[in-house]
Amino acid sequence: QAGTHCVMSLLLIYDTVFVLLVDEELHASYWNHQGREALHSALSAQRNLHQAKNLILFLGDGMGIPTVTAARILKGQLAGKSGEESSLVMDTFPNVALSKTYNVDQQMPDSAGTATAYLCGVKANYGTLGVSASTPRYNCSATKGNEVTSILHRAKQAGKSVGIVTTTRVQHASPGAAYAHTANRNWYADSDLTPEAVKNGCRDIAYQLVHNTEINVILGGGRQYMFPNNTQDPEYPSFTGVRNDGTHLVTEWMKNKKNVEYVWNKAGFDAVNPATTDFLMGLFEPKDCRYELERDQSMDPSLTEMVEKAIKILSKNPKGFFLFVEDNGRIDHAHHDGKAKKALYEAVEFDRSIGRAAELTSELDTMSVVTADHSHVFAFGGGSARGNSVLGKFHTQNDDKHFTMAVYGNGPGYQLSMELQAPVPLDSETHGIEDVAIFAKGPMSHLFHGVQEQSYIAHVMAYAACLEPYEDCKLPPPNQAASIHPSLLLLLLGLLLLSLCSV
Ligand SMILES: *[C@@H]1O[C@H](CO)[C@@H](O)[C@H](O)[C@H]1NC(C)=O
Ligand SMILES: *[C@@H]1O[C@H](CO)[C@@H](O)[C@H](O)[C@H]1NC(C)=O
Ligand SMILES: [Zn+2]
Repeated sequence: QAGTHCVMSLLLIYDTVFVLLVDEELHASYWNHQGREALHSALSAQRNLHQAKNLILFLGDGMGIPTVTAARILKGQLAGKSGEESSLVMDTFPNVALSKTYNVDQQMPDSAGTATAYLCGVKANYGTLGVSASTPRYNCSATKGNEVTSILHRAKQAGKSVGIVTTTRVQHASPGAAYAHTANRNWYADSDLTPEAVKNGCRDIAYQLVHNTEINVILGGGRQYMFPNNTQDPEYPSFTGVRNDGTHLVTEWMKNKKNVEYVWNKAGFDAVNPATTDFLMGLFEPKDCRYELERDQSMDPSLTEMVEKAIKILSKNPKGFFLFVEDNGRIDHAHHDGKAKKALYEAVEFDRSIGRAAELTSELDTMSVVTADHSHVFAFGGGSARGNSVLGKFHTQNDDKHFTMAVYGNGPGYQLSMELQAPVPLDSETHGIEDVAIFAKGPMSHLFHGVQEQSYIAHVMAYAACLEPYEDCKLPPPNQAASIHPSLLLLLLGLLLLSLCSV
């Protein structure tokens, strides 16, 4: 019945713009039915007031609401539909709030100050990681005493397994706030430190990755920050490590760990058996991983594959896990370059990884949160017909104007060679300032409501799992995710029969 009869009419306006009209949508009964179903599910929704055993935070770097909408339409169109009516996985999460993303010292935020907010629960300055706003950017000596700890760290302290998965370098600002405390997000390796930072004993982010919180699963890019400057990269012979202190951080990380693996390519990654691995570090590129559209599938795993492996390793812990998934720092990077097509494909892959995680976990005991650190000046609109490609052009018929439906408020798009237009010429398109969405499901996820400071996210997640400082949350223990093994079921049946016979 639903959506089978489509009337396709081809409207030729400049680019191939087509309108897909779905028959049912012409009738009031379709919308009334649709509305009644949505109302029914809202009325029957029940709050899960138990503790969360597992926490997953999905972060779409730079994934503002226009990006979410455009990715939804693209996902639908890739499946051969008109697009607007389709749903992303994150769209199906029952609880939504808005997040105010500004940094303490700046209206337009960056990924470091925002990551400190949503991972540590404290707003910070632009460019700083894991420290309160009492630390000005670049001032190492002002770091001491101002460190704030992340929910990843607190989950580990509570006995859970923890992991980070990203398509950027694992030392990048977003995952960095999970384990590092630094006055400057760009202090990736020791060779990046200023003389003041060296003098006052500040450590680079790669060093902190290995020496602060013990992290079970670390997957992403960032090989070069882990090796000495005379160690050749295994994949690109012209590349070397960038450390001047001569340390092999991967070796240091593996020391004194059991069931530990380090991999740097897809073959090694595929060979890792999650059942027998408790610690996994996979670094697939010297810096950031490639864009999903440009990924060498024989060399690098996809985000979804990394998320799957991470969950299989972490979920062996009976006390549960915390997983941070930076669903594509590359959404952000592609937008900065004014490359909306790449950004939107990244966002679709991001959504796919959320879907895969949902298949591997249970909503009964796992809180899943999807949000962005900040938006971009990406917008789209302009009289487009139904089913129009989000990356297509529009042509006004009366005064003959041609323009791209999606535009950037600034950036490289002032050059006519670029795919999308931008009025303000800048080498790099900027972040946006408007609120971003928080989508949540699972235990206690109803606490995500209203318009909130971004730092609220860490507080809700800590509370839901009764992590510090909410150890006395008094929530009943986690629901048992119902995965009864068939043999156990047979045993129970047998016991039941036995007890009936003996009566
Ligand atoms: C850095 O922070 C220290 C300690 O708060 C302060 O004394 C110093 O003046 C700061 N330096 C700069 C350059 O702001
Ligand atoms: C490489 O590291 C050594 C110390 O381990 C240092 O003396 C040298 O200057 C570094 N080379 C470069 C190119 O930075
Ligand atoms: Zn950015």
